Amino acid sequence: MSNLRDKLWIAKYAPTNLDETIMSDEIKTKMEEMVRTKDIPNLGFFGSAGTGKTTTGKVLLDVLDVDPGDIMFVNASDVNSVDAVRNMIKPFAMSMSINQDLPIRFVFLDEADHLSPQAQAALRNLIEASYGSARFILTANYPKKIIPALHSRLQTFTLAKPDINAIADRIVAILEAEEVEIENEDELVVLIQDNSTDIRKLIQLCQQNTVEDADGNKVIKIQIKENAGGDTFKKYVKLYKKGDAKALRQLVYSDFTDTDTNEFYSLMLDEIIKDPEAFEEIGDGIDNIIYYLNESQKTHEVVANKVLNVIGFTVATIVAGE
Ligand SMILES: Nc1ncnc2c1ncn2[C@@H]1O[C@H](COP(=O)(O)OP(=O)(O)OP(=O)(O)O)[C@@H](O)[C@H]1O
Ligand SMILES: [Mg+2]
Repeated sequence: MSNLRDKLWIAKYAPTNLDETIMSDEIKTKMEEMVRTKDIPNLGFFGSAGTGKTTTGKVLLDVLDVDPGDIMFVNASDVNSVDAVRNMIKPFAMSMSINQDLPIRFVFLDEADHLSPQAQAALRNLIEASYGSARFILTANYPKKIIPALHSRLQTFTLAKPDINAIADRIVAILEAEEVEIENEDELVVLIQDNSTDIRKLIQLCQQNTVEDADGNKVIKIQIKENAGGDTFKKYVKLYKKGDAKALRQLVYSDFTDTDTNEFYSLMLDEIIKDPEAFEEIGDGIDNIIYYLNESQKTHEVVANKVLNVIGFTVATIVAGE
């Protein structure tokens, strides 16, 4: 009972079959068909954090009962070079599986949006060349970072906006399994609604809000509504729209990781395009922000301190007009 897997609900309740995995009926039907026919295309699972991209890919391999020796799992945020594609992935994908039932090997490229453009270009040919022996499963938060030539070789699924009732059912099932009493159903419903786009975070919040009462019974009382770490970028945008340079400096310095800085520029552009009015009054306005965004992004790969680069952008654009 003491290992981490038992302690963390997100790991303990990681789905092991398609029924436990929250997904749209449309996607479920297609997955079931793949399992039934064993006719598996190259796949891409896209969507924001905690929607089940990695889970869905893993569950599919589980349900297909793929031999572990026929799976190469690559986390592309660690391994992302063209050399890795040529020297590690290619030899694996080009050799045949000896499994009788499903003689296919699988290359699982998790977080494939971190693959370098050269690695992606190399994959383009490999996916075709190895079609007789392997299939590729890619997951990504930002499908725009995946080159069109790769997109067109994948059957893609977007795991956005999961059904709220399906999420609620899953949460209730987890709470039942943990023998947790629900103190206030309305509050739980609000927590589910507020966090329905990130199932991982929602499950974590349910666990964090579960306490033992005086009699030693477990009960969920909603006290924490946001993760302590929270979504750093969301916090950034909130503060940025207020023009709070001091708080932003602090936030970026203490909370931004290298991954956050990598994604920062395109996320910020998305925010500006989505909600331009909110940025009009900041510093010298939107065009200035976009100009600096572009300038900082250009230097991103070469600067020694990426966090400082983001702080530089932040300060330069917020105080520009003052
Ligand atoms: N669709 C889902 N159905 C059931 N559980 C889910 C689902 N999505 C997420 N979870 C829960 O959250 C955990 C994390 O999900 P997963 O790693 O698949 O998310 P992800 O979309 O790959 O996120 P990231 O973008 O951060 O890689 C799972 O182990 C599971 O407990
Ligand atoms: Mg994932």
